[in-house]
Amino acid sequence: MLRIYLILLCFIASGWAEAKKFEGLALTPPMGWNSWNTFACEIDENLIKEMADTMVENGMQAAGYEYINIDDCWHGERDAQGNIQVNQQRFPSGLKALADYVHSKGLKLGLYSDAGWQTCGGHPGSRGYEFQDAKQYASWGIDYLKYDWCNTEGLKAEGAYLTMREAIYQAGRPMVFSLCEWGDNKPWEWAKDVGHLWRTTGDIYPCFDCEYNHGTWSSWGVLKILDRQKGLRKYAGPGHWNDPDMMEVGNGMSAAEDRSHFAMWAMLAAPLIAGNDLRIMSEQTLALLSNSDVIAVDQDPLGVQGFIYADDFADTKLQVWFKPLEDGDWAMAILNRGDKEESFIFDWQQHTVSDALSQRQIQKSPSLYEIKNLWSGQVFADNQGILQQIIQSHDTLLLRLSLKK
Ligand code: GLA
Repeated sequence: MLRIYLILLCFIASGWAEAKKFEGLALTPPMGWNSWNTFACEIDENLIKEMADTMVENGMQAAGYEYINIDDCWHGERDAQGNIQVNQQRFPSGLKALADYVHSKGLKLGLYSDAGWQTCGGHPGSRGYEFQDAKQYASWGIDYLKYDWCNTEGLKAEGAYLTMREAIYQAGRPMVFSLCEWGDNKPWEWAKDVGHLWRTTGDIYPCFDCEYNHGTWSSWGVLKILDRQKGLRKYAGPGHWNDPDMMEVGNGMSAAEDRSHFAMWAMLAAPLIAGNDLRIMSEQTLALLSNSDVIAVDQDPLGVQGFIYADDFADTKLQVWFKPLEDGDWAMAILNRGDKEESFIFDWQQHTVSDALSQRQIQKSPSLYEIKNLWSGQVFADNQGILQQIIQSHDTLLLRLSLKK
């Protein structure tokens, strides 16, 4: 009897000790802002506060943006007990006070670390300090951790990220866990229960289709990143997302290119993490980032990533994408990858659009749908089943097909 009792006790105790990821934190792709793309290491507490203020005042918070994420370079050194310290010059009030400030605005605060011994920017990494660091972040009130992969020689990615997952869980404060190992170890195959999002590629660069060579590594323009998402859609879903990197909207591309970038990130059900200076962006950039129809495509509760229906559509440079949405709706994107404007003519009767992954099919008769242009807000009248539009170079036509009730 005593033996059975002891076995039962061990069983219950091991159940208590079991670590897992915090569930329910990213049922739709996370939305927010991150310091890296514009500011790199030039960050301080005033900048972070101003971004939080701006996000509330300009309506982005109301549009769904929630996280203010501090990237690399917030660190000081470790103290004699190994506790990581904040950089005192840049963050004199400390991260607890900053988290309190951000929380007082109804927003959440994210932080950055690295699985290796140093971050990519040369600051102390979490290797060997995972549990201590996670506890520290929890005590500061951190809500989101981006965990990078520089200086990880000898480490195995899955194990390293699992260690940090356990550390976060044991620290007891729910945090979104964002894996940033650039897709090198195919995280989509193993990270569903480890984190809430995983980078699929190397870093983004604010250009439409370029490669920026840093010497030993490259960063990539929007189309280059988009093309590296092939085959990954089946791995994404509520609570676990493919992350094609933070956005470069408002960071120097043309208006059409910014539109395409934002539209395609929505079609990918990508995290929408703005990377521009929110304080000085143009009205046009703000309107784009806050477009509620496009955000609804990204944040659709079905959580199914879009797919390419046709490459080089009708011998043009147009790429046609579809994304199934809840309640029988669809998003449709026509991306002009080429250098000249193209005419798009789509005869619904000639096309069968179906998706094996979500087991959904578009009705052949467009009159069953209300078709809305998500840039102009214009709703199309039934035009005898043929969709006809001119699409400018590098621009994207984004439509929502809403099943008429
Ligand atoms: C890596 C990441 C970037 C950024 C920098 C910071 O390159 O992929 O997103 O976090 O490190 O050093």
